[in-house]
Amino acid sequence: MGHSGLAVCKYGGSVLRSDDDFALVVHDLYRRVRRGQRVVAVVSALAGTTDRLLNRARFDGVEQDPHAVAGLVETGEVESVAMLRLALDRVGVPSEALDVGAISLRSVGEPLNATPIDVDLKRIHRVLEEKCVLVIPGFVGRDQGDRPTLFGRGGSDLTALFLAGQLGADHCRLIKDVDGLYERDPARPGPAPRRYDTMRWDDVLHLDGSIVQHKAVRFAREQVISFDVGELLTEGGTRVGPGSSEYASPRWPNRPLRIVLLGFGTVGQGVYRFAERLSDRLVVVRIATRDLEKAERAGAATSLLTDDVFDAVASNCDVVVEAIGGLDPARAAIESALHMGRHVVTANKAVVARYGPELHRAAERGKAKLRYSAAVGGGTPILEAVQRIAGESSIESIRAVLNGTTNVVLDCVSEGKSVDTAIREAKAAGFAEADPHDDLNGLDAAHKLTLLWHAWTGRWSVPACVDCAGASLERLTVLQSDSHEHEVIRQVAQLRRDGDVIHARVRLERLQPEDPLAGIRREQNAAVIRTIDGDSHVVRGRGAGRFPTAEAVVADLLDCADDVPDPVESMEFSVARPSIVPAQAVTC
Ligand code: NDP
Ligand code: HSE
Repeated sequence: MGHSGLAVCKYGGSVLRSDDDFALVVHDLYRRVRRGQRVVAVVSALAGTTDRLLNRARFDGVEQDPHAVAGLVETGEVESVAMLRLALDRVGVPSEALDVGAISLRSVGEPLNATPIDVDLKRIHRVLEEKCVLVIPGFVGRDQGDRPTLFGRGGSDLTALFLAGQLGADHCRLIKDVDGLYERDPARPGPAPRRYDTMRWDDVLHLDGSIVQHKAVRFAREQVISFDVGELLTEGGTRVGPGSSEYASPRWPNRPLRIVLLGFGTVGQGVYRFAERLSDRLVVVRIATRDLEKAERAGAATSLLTDDVFDAVASNCDVVVEAIGGLDPARAAIESALHMGRHVVTANKAVVARYGPELHRAAERGKAKLRYSAAVGGGTPILEAVQRIAGESSIESIRAVLNGTTNVVLDCVSEGKSVDTAIREAKAAGFAEADPHDDLNGLDAAHKLTLLWHAWTGRWSVPACVDCAGASLERLTVLQSDSHEHEVIRQVAQLRRDGDVIHARVRLERLQPEDPLAGIRREQNAAVIRTIDGDSHVVRGRGAGRFPTAEAVVADLLDCADDVPDPVESMEFSVARPSIVPAQAVTC
């Protein structure tokens, strides 16, 4: 689907120190996926696991069958694969995990120091046609007799480079706990060592082999594979390849991005939880919400809390995350922040759909960024896919399921539950809007269509009134009355170009099972983007809920963090409190 390259990324034991670190790996993968990359993620066991398992395999005075040892040791990698798959699924990144048997990763040589020689590339490509991420265990293979083998210490580097070479990947990145290769171990005492910007394979072989496995480097040199060594959540690092070895110019490490959170509900709490684990990149400095005690009970630090949104916006920060929803005071808070030069990340499609041009003008004036990836599709990067595809060819139509609450209600009703019970279920899951009727009558999807239209054309003017007449629950009764058992009813949002006219509508439709939107359940969202040359691109994922939505917000924040200015003096602003603007009717 309009993807921009295949990457092989290796996540080693230095970045996988505990179960919490899988969420950080997901942040890294999610940012790649939303840029349109397909990724093969090669993972090692959690730090210390391989040594522990090797010790367990040792029985005094007995010579062990090395394949049996390899069989025990590989359980460490297998566990990491399963954990990463679960963490990806939590935020809805479409992924698959395959073990080395399933991809026939063949090796030769000593069972505990083997070398990969072959792999089932067709199987890998088949998975990547459907899924954005394929997770594979590093370090382990199978010999000709299908017995487990290991690739020697640091062997996950070799797995990654081998797969990158076989797949002809566009990028191969070995992700470590350092931001590149240094002339000496930067953790050792003494003067700060210099980091390399680029390095020849041969020169890497003079470094300690525990940083990048020497066998892997020799393999890369033989196969002429260039690769990067760097840390999580960044793109920089050291490029290893055929060129010369050059030092990088010194730079100050970026300080963490200071965030003000407006709202501490489903989305706000998810962002807070993720930020706590990313403390070297993101720090929450203030939280504004209505009910401070409720926020404390939900885990917010008391010292950060205020019930004054504008006071929070005025505090010393780089970014304001707006997660209160609705038009007021969201609009005024966003505009104030942008005017003051603070970046704004919001999940609020209502306010962006209604005031998009005004908010973008405020961002331009304040030289600040306005980001709202989460506003459409939650954790499903639909806006980014539309923008990318529109940049490559001419879009003809977008058909999408964009509202999780409606999915829940439709499924509950088809199971015989009442609409009220269904709405309670969607609310309890954190999917529903403040007024769930906005979900059911198509208004929420209409807002999302407005943002999709902007991603498609770069223009704000809504093509025509979004027609939501067919989204009502009364229509559900009509559709249900003569639908067949295999058909499924979904709320379908559509933008369709007809000459110079764009038709925009949201309505309940009866879908045949082969329709790519028919299988979308609960908080899942999907969009089918068709181009005039007949291509059809499908984007799927979790469109609502705490962690998928927070994942998209965090990705926007990390984009802002990439160019956070270097340390600055505190600047306090006083904010003019706006008068309340009455909410205006939106597109339907
Ligand atoms: P919640 O209702 O769970 O949270 C909203 C939070 O904002 C609550 O803490 C609420 O306080 C607070 N709040 C509301 N109004 C004010 C105010 N005037 N001043 C201070 N605090 C206020 O909503 P969500 O987190 O679900 O949604 C937030 C935004 O994200 C919405 O725009 C929504 O459309 C969007 N979104 C939500 C998704 C989801 O799955 N939930 C997915 C994608 C986008 P109190 O608790 O007192 O009500
Ligand atoms: N209320 C929305 C839904 C939240 O149910 O899909 C995600 O935008």
